[in-house]
Amino acid sequence: MQKLKTTSNNLIVSDKATISIDGESYDFPVYKGIEGDVCIDIKNLRSLSEGVTTIDRGFKNTASCESKITYLDGEKGILRYRGYDVEELAKKASFLEVAYLLIFGELPGKEELDKFHDDIVDNSIVNDDVKKIVDAFPSSAHPMGVLSSLTSALTAFNPNDVSLDYVRSKEGMYETIVKVLGKIPILVGWSYRKQNGFPLQYSMKIRNLDYTDMILHLLFKKPNDEYRPEKPLIDVFNKLLILHADHEQNCSTSTVRIVGSSHAGLFPSISAGISALWGPLHGGANQAVLEMLKAIQEDGGNTKKYIRKAKDKEDPFRLMGFGHRVYKNYDPRAKIIKAAADKFLKSIGVDDPLLQIAKELEENALKDKYFIDRKLFPNVDFYSGVIYRAMGIPPNMYTIMFVLGRLPGWIAQWREMRLMKEPIGRPRQLFTGSAPRKFKSKK
Ligand code: CMC
Repeated sequence: MQKLKTTSNNLIVSDKATISIDGESYDFPVYKGIEGDVCIDIKNLRSLSEGVTTIDRGFKNTASCESKITYLDGEKGILRYRGYDVEELAKKASFLEVAYLLIFGELPGKEELDKFHDDIVDNSIVNDDVKKIVDAFPSSAHPMGVLSSLTSALTAFNPNDVSLDYVRSKEGMYETIVKVLGKIPILVGWSYRKQNGFPLQYSMKIRNLDYTDMILHLLFKKPNDEYRPEKPLIDVFNKLLILHADHEQNCSTSTVRIVGSSHAGLFPSISAGISALWGPLHGGANQAVLEMLKAIQEDGGNTKKYIRKAKDKEDPFRLMGFGHRVYKNYDPRAKIIKAAADKFLKSIGVDDPLLQIAKELEENALKDKYFIDRKLFPNVDFYSGVIYRAMGIPPNMYTIMFVLGRLPGWIAQWREMRLMKEPIGRPRQLFTGSAPRKFKSKK
């Protein structure tokens, strides 16, 4: 082991790794993260070894960046934002405090938080013309597709935000960040309001409300109605938002970082993140879980049958809301959400049979050899849909609710990537296609 050195980026060099190819050996620095993670830096492999590259399908064991935002240990079931345990934050913090912490690195004082809140409210107004775009979508359009398109369309109404000045300066980034946090909840509110025939709201300047409470107003406030969400609703929603706020380099966050790495602005980067989150293997799993629970209920509630289906390799059915790329232990978020679902449903006097089906599925899966051997546990999406359902949110909106929670994480990762002046993201490939051939028309 060599004496510890640091690189110009303050990475601790703890050792060297040697790769041998065709009798030649090449040394590479080994870095140590502050939690003891070990990482081999192979970026010079190609230049040293004349064109040799590495392959890791699905990035199962490749770090795409250095980051100071979120730490997660999938073996031990640990999740921390900027060093704070997520369980403690979910219990004690407000979502906006957590958003500030993730984006700027430290918890805000009262003045900083008030300013952040007011800047978000002041920048929340959505141009009336955006409504014309919404009206052009068929009523069957999925809210995630609509939200991704509208987020991208917002660049047309905020052209400065994609200019290089905005992307490169801290002040420009701040202006864009407060716009994203202000305008996207308005658009999510539109999705619910359109489905329920409520008039649309164009700004957060309704009343001086806390950010979480404000989002509930944007969704549920009817005209001429003195809407006052009950405390259990505000608490459970605040918890859900915090638990979804960041999850290091997952599919959608990596998408946001890679789109942003081309110096695209925050709106287009977030729009791409929304599209990536939509898939059922990622954020779309929350809608898929609810649909699965309903299907099991309609089929007589036989959970064992669905466990058998999930294990059958000939059957495409997977237990949605189960398994995770990095958690090989109980997802700490799922544990908190399960308890929160129980508490919330009790507080509003709802006894949802789907919650019972979910618990029975979990119980059967956790004692089944297939799930034990593969270390498959419930993930964040397994119980969240039960809470959204009790809140009165339609299933096709569950994944845009996830977007609301994930916005601070995407923003924090985009900002960090820009401040660290990361190079454009551009993976290599192993070409396995055709050898050179001459063109001969087949017409
Ligand atoms: N049901 C049945 N089998 C499963 C499941 C499941 N939900 N998840 C993984 N497996 C099996 C899989 O068939 C494979 O078995 P084998 O080794 O025999 O081929 C093994 O477990 C490893 O699975 P994998 O697909 O190679 O693992 P991955 O890391 O590529 O995928 C995952 C992770 C989350 C995409 C996957 O577990 C899954 O599809 N889960 C269901 C969808 C879901 O709940 N997604 C939400 C993820 S958490 C929130 C988020 O990301 O937004």
